[in-house]
Amino acid sequence: MIKNDLFLRALKGETVNRPPVWMMRQAGRYLPEFMEIKSKYDFFTRCQTPELASEITVQPIRRYGMDAAILFCDILVIPQAMNIEVQMKPNFGPYLPNPIRSQKDVDNVIVPDVKDALNYVYEAIKVTKEKLNDDIPLIGFAGSPWTILCYCVQGQGSKNFDKAKEFCFTNPMAAHQLLQKITDTTIAYLKEKVKAGCNAVQVFDSWGGMLSPVDYQEFSWQYIQQIIDALKDETPVIAFGKGCWFALGDMAKSGASALGVDWTCSAKNARYLTGGNITLQGNFDPTRLFSPPAEIKKMVHQMINDFGKDKYIVNLGHGILPNIGLDNAKAFIDAVKEYGN
Ligand code: CP3
Repeated sequence: MIKNDLFLRALKGETVNRPPVWMMRQAGRYLPEFMEIKSKYDFFTRCQTPELASEITVQPIRRYGMDAAILFCDILVIPQAMNIEVQMKPNFGPYLPNPIRSQKDVDNVIVPDVKDALNYVYEAIKVTKEKLNDDIPLIGFAGSPWTILCYCVQGQGSKNFDKAKEFCFTNPMAAHQLLQKITDTTIAYLKEKVKAGCNAVQVFDSWGGMLSPVDYQEFSWQYIQQIIDALKDETPVIAFGKGCWFALGDMAKSGASALGVDWTCSAKNARYLTGGNITLQGNFDPTRLFSPPAEIKKMVHQMINDFGKDKYIVNLGHGILPNIGLDNAKAFIDAVKEYGN
């Protein structure tokens, strides 16, 4: 039994005294204790060493006491396990030296035995669960197949992922084969994460908003739906599509337990589009954490009033930025805990 089960209760839509809170990318570069570990070990060493990954996961919890932890790892461990080389270049981000650009490249992508290839992730989950001591739930995650394809084809981050979109629109058969391989790998991977101890999973469709509503259905949503179908009887699934407010109506009918919302969609509109019954998560503008702490607190209370305290998980509308002050992050979390007092 998990002692603080606010997050799991909100996922079930139960009535709560206050909503739970966590922050996307909470295990990261705004924390000095994270920077200390980062200075000693490269990115994938941090991901692959259970002691380090679990330590980084619990760092923000120790400091701020969020209502859920999210395992430190990255969405790009999936292409890595599929035999696609992924480097994390300092001050640059992900770099894939051999991007996928042809049917032949797709044919060479393997669907790995994830038990073997990503065993270090499940080991990190087990160590993290011990450290968390059943105080709060642990979230596991994966990127959406579309978002993973974006990196595999583009080869790096991008403002518009033009090469990824060009590949889909000029070679849709190969693109769909790649998306299906990523989907199959992701489903097996998330199932193993749940077996290892994750209490919920989130699918990050960080680049879904790059697609038109019609293309979103074809290249992103149908694959996320497969993931939800495969996981929903085993664990609550949160689907977060950045810039995907237009798809919220379909997402609400998907069997997901909750939907992530970014800051460009108002609470009222998100509730309207989703029919008012499903748990929503979000949607504080991450750059609003630059505001003075007192102002952050007021805005967070307003945000809770706008979404309603039930069927709601307080979060940012995307990941926390590295240059956010420690007191500003604290104000965000504290404001939720003080709600209703
Ligand atoms: O949320 C958490 O606290 C858990 C850890 C986590 C990381 N990446 C660690 C990380 C999670 C959930 C992710 C997901 C992720 N990774 C996404 C989806 C969420 C989002 O932000 O849209 C994406 C698109 C990636 C790919 C990725 N990884 C990028 C673009 C970068 C470089 C730019 C950046 O934001 O740092 C990474 C590297 C990365 N992943 C870092 C961390 C803490 C920073 C680099 C480092 O620590 O050396």
